[in-house]
Amino acid sequence: MSNFPTTLLREALEHAPVICNQVEYHPYLGQPQALALALERDLMVTAYSPLAQGAVLHDPVIGEIAASHGRTPAQIVLRWLLDQPQVATVPKAASHEHRAANLDVFDLALADEQRAAIASLARGGHAIAPS
Ligand SMILES: NC(=O)c1ccc[n+]([C@@H]2O[C@H](COP(=O)([O-])OP(=O)(O)OC[C@H]3O[C@@H](n4cnc5c(N)ncnc54)[C@H](OP(=O)(O)O)[C@@H]3O)[C@@H](O)[C@H]2O)c1
Repeated sequence: MSNFPTTLLREALEHAPVICNQVEYHPYLGQPQALALALERDLMVTAYSPLAQGAVLHDPVIGEIAASHGRTPAQIVLRWLLDQPQVATVPKAASHEHRAANLDVFDLALADEQRAAIASLARGGHAIAPS
């Protein structure tokens, strides 16, 4: 599924198994309900626009965490998403350089307080209007 609010996803689950719901999810947009339902029903949440279409790449909090690891802000955000249970992600990158960098996040470990600092950036507001 994609862009299913939790009420609609619960209804869908009455009719058929669902593997995944793809929703906009990044540090500036929390998805607590989608994540809670994913845990409850063993679904995946695929975070689309995980970099908020580039907006989070200039965030000072993320920039500071990136500098502390010698990584890029994009890598920090992708690692933060992948650290969460039931979460996958689909960043878009036109260049090979960015695609390669975005895959190179599996040897990176964020501290708990860094994950919490990124989560605290959520301010609501979708970049994409699902309707
Ligand atoms: N289901 C839906 O309704 C829905 C809606 C929207 C999007 N999506 C999916 O989500 C995917 C990604 O979303 P999106 O394109 O909206 O936004 P995004 O992945 O959050 O951001 C893409 C932007 O980030 C830049 N970027 C990517 N990797 C980077 C890196 N390592 N360093 C610096 N900049 C980097 C890209 O630049 P470059 O391209 O220049 O590398 C591009 O400008 C789409 O391809 C699509 O499949 C799904």
